[in-house]
Formats: sequence, C-alpha cells, structure tokens
Amino acid sequence: MNMNDMILKKREGKTLTREEIQFFISGYTKGVIPDYQAAALLMAIFFQKLTDEETFYLTEAMQHSGDIIDLSAIKGIKVDKHSTGGVGDKTTLIVAPIAAACGVPIAKMSGRGLGFTGGTIDKLESIPGFRTVLEPEEFVNQVNEIGLSVIGQTAHIAAADKKLYALRDVTATVDNASLITSSIMSKKLAAGSDAIILDVKCGKGAFMEEMEEAEHLANLMVSIGKSAGKKTIAIITDMNQPLGNAVGNSLEVQEAINTLKGDGPKDIEELCLRLASYMIFVGEKADSPEHGYQLAQEALDTGSAYRKFLEFVERQGGIVSKEHGDISLSPAAYESKLFAKEEGYLLEVEAKKIGVASQHTGAGRETKEDTIDLSAGILLHKKIGDAVKKGECLATVYGNREDKVQRAMTELEDAFTFSKKMPRKISLIKKIIE
Ligand code: URA
Repeated sequence: MNMNDMILKKREGKTLTREEIQFFISGYTKGVIPDYQAAALLMAIFFQKLTDEETFYLTEAMQHSGDIIDLSAIKGIKVDKHSTGGVGDKTTLIVAPIAAACGVPIAKMSGRGLGFTGGTIDKLESIPGFRTVLEPEEFVNQVNEIGLSVIGQTAHIAAADKKLYALRDVTATVDNASLITSSIMSKKLAAGSDAIILDVKCGKGAFMEEMEEAEHLANLMVSIGKSAGKKTIAIITDMNQPLGNAVGNSLEVQEAINTLKGDGPKDIEELCLRLASYMIFVGEKADSPEHGYQLAQEALDTGSAYRKFLEFVERQGGIVSKEHGDISLSPAAYESKLFAKEEGYLLEVEAKKIGVASQHTGAGRETKEDTIDLSAGILLHKKIGDAVKKGECLATVYGNREDKVQRAMTELEDAFTFSKKMPRKISLIKKIIE
C-alpha cells in the first residue's frame, strides 16, 4: 500500500478500503506519513467526499489511534454530550449538573479551544482553584460519589485527531461532514460513555450554514454512534447569533451560574432543558424526552442542579464562598460600551463577527501556544428581534489590555444590522434526529 496511490484513488473519486484508511491513520499518527501527503489526501476527500462506509472506517481507525477509556467501574448509564461548536456555547456547564442532579452519571472529558473563545476546560479554569486534571481513579470515584466530573481530554485520546485537526485548520479542510464526524465521534467513542447527545449547530456562526448540510452532518454522526453500539441523538440548533448574552470564559461561567439559579437568558435555558431532557431519557431516568424535560425543569426550579454544580466545583478544588455559597470570578481591568448609532429592530447579531471580536479581546487563542485572558470577552445587551433606540447600549467589551478592547470595539460595530420592520422569530431548536 502506498500514500501516492491512495491520494490518486481519492482524487479520481474512488472508494478507499478499510485497510487503506487504517494504513493512513496509523502511518500519520506515527509520523511515517508526512504532512504534505496527508494534506493532499484531505483536500481530495474535501472535493470527492467520503461514503458513509468510508467515514465509519475513518472514525474507527481514529478512535483506536490512542487510549480507549474504560468507564465500566462507574455505575449506571454514562451519558456524554457534545456540541459541534458555536459562539457563546456554555451548555455543558449547565446541562451536566442538571442531568447529574437527575441521577445520570456524567464522566466527561472536554477540550480547550482554538478559535473564538476557550473550550469548556478553559471556562472551568476561570474558577479560582479549579483542577481540570484528575488521576483516572479520582475521576471514577468522583462520578461514583457525586455523579459528575469534567476533566481535560488528554492528547492520548484519538491521538490521530490532534494532528489531523491541526492540519485541517491550516489547509482549509475543516468544514467537511465526514471529517467533522470522524474527528468528533472518534473522541466521543474513545471516551467511554454509553450514550451521546449531540448539539449540531446550524447558521452563520457554525460550520454548517444551511439546514440541509446540518442535517447531513447530524444523520452521519447519529448513524456512526449507533453503529458503534451507543445510543445517539442529535439536536440541530440555531447558531446565527451567539447563544445567550456572554461570550468569553469567565463571563460565560457567570452566565451559566445565573442560568442554574433560574436567572439566565431564555435561549440558553430552553436549549439546556432540551439537551438535558434527552440526556435524562437516554440515561433511563425518564420514560420519554417530555418526562426528562419535566425532571430537568424541576432540577432548575428546586435548585438541585445549582447545588450539584457547586458540589462539583468544590470537589475539583474550585473556591466556593462558604458565606454566600457562591463563586467569585476575577473582573477585567478595562471595559468599553458600544452604543447604537441608529434605531430599529435588530435583524442580525452576527455570531461569527462577535466571535472574532471576542477572540481579539484575548478571550480566545489565535495559535495553540497563546494564553487566554479568562476575564476578557463580550456581553451582549440586545439580541435579534429586540427594539433598539439610538444611543442604547448594544454590548460591553471586557479585557485586561486596553488596545485589545479597542480593537474588538471597532470590529463589533459591523456585527449588528438594523431593520425598520420586526424580523421573523428564529426557532432555536430546529430538528431532532434519532
Ligand atoms: N470539533 C472537533 O472536535 N472536530 C471538528 O472537526 C470540528 C469541530
């Protein structure tokens, strides 16, 4: 077998065999196949696509390119959740404690972010003292004892993905359904949970801008999860504007806390209740998603989800104030407000532009080596459909570097579009794929 023949075969639109795909993944992970040949194959895949069967073989090869986590020492049906990526997406911080408060064991590994904001692990690290690295025994014991742990994913899980994702990032080959599916599902399958709930984003701030593409991605991910013997459900959700109001690590943690206390933005609350309802259902703690929704709502209303969050934070070393039973996050040194220059209804609050501006405050990495400014980011005061008067505040930008705050302010101006007419309401939950 040789790489040159494989690149040619895919370039001509032919189907690769399971053995060829395994040969590529194993050779590339070991460093025997060079980046230039891997990049050429990725581009051939981008244009010629992979069949569903090839995607399955690619996922399988990537899943076995590193450690496979054994969670069998944890009692119950372990449920994982993953989002394909969006601006202001802090749902894990909310749905994990809701589901855990309803009795579903959550043993979750999450990543750091390269892009608009940090990943869940960066967000959790904005809580003073929070430890994202636990020994496997401590991780398992914590889930058995309190039902919830979230730790950083090591490079040894789906090792091929770490190299391939970095290569895709610099060769314009990220937004291909088969490559996204194999990247996400290989990590999810190696991480050992029994069931997976996927939040597939669709809209201008997502990889998949059109519903047809998002549905294709969701169907592919669900069928690969099921073929691997895991209960898998995907929820396609809107990502035209940021989720909630906060974009940036500690700002998002604060918004997650507000939501868990019943005082968060309505879009975040609704999405989290829906995601949690399916997690509770596949975790067999509810007879139907509707019953799961009712249990999730009760966990929010009675405060049991927030208490579970505080227990989880404290158990992983995060500082919870004994006096107020709360978490305090460091504020940023600088803030600047963006005021509306015209009046009307907001037609667009563009997720991608806000994500990029937030990244430039220091809230996201531009290269893997960058350190994140955990208190930097953007707080939106208006969302699509809101009526805005001239001079009203649209957003506040935070950061610890004045120059970065000013750069983000300039970029942010372009993110808002006004209309004289009230725009049609966008539905947040678009489709469920089971
Ligand atoms: N997230 C991933 O982990 N991989 C992708 O390819 C896209 C989003």
